[in-house]
Amino acid sequence: MSDYDLIVRNARIVNEDRETEGDIAVKDSRITAIGPAIRGSGAREIDAGAKLVLPGGVDSHVHIEQQSGMGVMCADDFYTGTVSAAFGGTTTVIPFAAQHRGMSLRKVVEEYHAAATPKAVIDYAFHLIVSDPTPQVLGQELPALIKDGYTSFKVYMTYEALKLSDYQILDVLALATREGALVMVHAENHDIIQWLAHHLVGQGHVAPKFHAVAHARIAEAEATNRAIALARLVDAPILIVHMSEIEAIETLRQAQRRGLKIFGETCPQYIALTADELDKPGVEGAMWCCSPPPRDAEAQEAVWAALKDGTLQTFSSDHAPYQFNEKGKIPKGEKTTFKEMANGVPGIEIRLPLLFSEGVQKGRITLQQFVALTATNHARLYGLYPRKGTIAVGSDADFAIWDADKDVTVRWKDLHDNVGYTPYEGREIKGWPITVVSRGRVIVENGKLHAARGSGQFLPCASPDSSKPLGRATPELQAMGRLGARPLF
Ligand code: URP
Ligand code: ZN
Ligand code: ZN
Repeated sequence: MSDYDLIVRNARIVNEDRETEGDIAVKDSRITAIGPAIRGSGAREIDAGAKLVLPGGVDSHVHIEQQSGMGVMCADDFYTGTVSAAFGGTTTVIPFAAQHRGMSLRKVVEEYHAAATPKAVIDYAFHLIVSDPTPQVLGQELPALIKDGYTSFKVYMTYEALKLSDYQILDVLALATREGALVMVHAENHDIIQWLAHHLVGQGHVAPKFHAVAHARIAEAEATNRAIALARLVDAPILIVHMSEIEAIETLRQAQRRGLKIFGETCPQYIALTADELDKPGVEGAMWCCSPPPRDAEAQEAVWAALKDGTLQTFSSDHAPYQFNEKGKIPKGEKTTFKEMANGVPGIEIRLPLLFSEGVQKGRITLQQFVALTATNHARLYGLYPRKGTIAVGSDADFAIWDADKDVTVRWKDLHDNVGYTPYEGREIKGWPITVVSRGRVIVENGKLHAARGSGQFLPCASPDSSKPLGRATPELQAMGRLGARPLF
């Protein structure tokens, strides 16, 4: 009879705040011991050979089996989406349960559970997308859902079918502050985008590259500023998602310097793609179309600086998978205008390797920052810490052994999503997670999946500190400030 279910020996263990060498022992899905040369035996023992062992990634912005505001269904369901995540070293995802207008949020949540339960191979929580904050939703459904573990919601400032007015956003923010939830904001000025798009289309500029013109930088900068103003009014912490743009990031930085609890997220497309990618023959550029759009080299540098100095807390994929066909990206085939293309790019599997390769290997961020940006901060912000996001005694045994020297040329055929292309085709990457462990189960090893459909578990999320309203700095949120050069609070 073994002492442990699994022991990983000879590991270089990196958390957001420290690096140690030793062994990790696992029993009943949790880490039960960490230390040099753990005594006893494991039913399974893996020699990490002094390789890096990092917390399993937590991807807190993914769209899986979700219908977009334009009515297009994602290419990935909860099986392909979570398998792809696992192969990229991610062991927890937080997709959206998306309300469309007229729907009961409670019913929406039930439907997403019905979709995820039989298919997910890694653990998952849900954010809610609130597109119809009726008195019933604000008064009854949301408070009850927060108590049941759905403690974050996304609101949109653009997209005709999803956007809320400032008045409605204030309603949601006030509720979130009162009940202990975090609001994620898609910050782009709808009227600026619509006005530009109208005039571009009127002049016959319909190709994908004009998407990046219509989604102007100033639309992101203005909406970011406005979202922060709305949050200030009701003392609500917010997180601005998928930040891409210099002025918006600077606005975020200044808000944090003033002590406001405003957080920021960025994604692979804003460090690795530019708007030039959309400038391809015909409608091919649609494959790189997302909102906000990728910008330019200068904006990429601003994103890197904000990842390094702690202005941005989370690096998520915003995996929004649509196939390049009439059921996905281009509903009208070659005749699809930039206004009609499905928005979003895939990235769930590439997220960690890309940041590792471009960030850690190139000396732009440290390994500990990498861990914070890809796992720990997500778990903290969304009420999953310390169960997820860290390698610690008592935490779920979610980690990955990395081969930091593995050279990979990205090819979609080697990925595991159902999209049919990757915007990163042909990229050279150094470093990849080779063995992935989720709750003590070795789910990826030697390029093979060892996880059954439906073996992922739902994770109810706490408020970051359920004993206090989020409007005041909680220990978890204060700890976020230690990531960067200066405290946020
Ligand atoms: O273009 C994007 N990001 N599409 C996905 C939906 C969203 O706004 O996150
Ligand atoms: Zn968004
Ligand atoms: Zn998104």
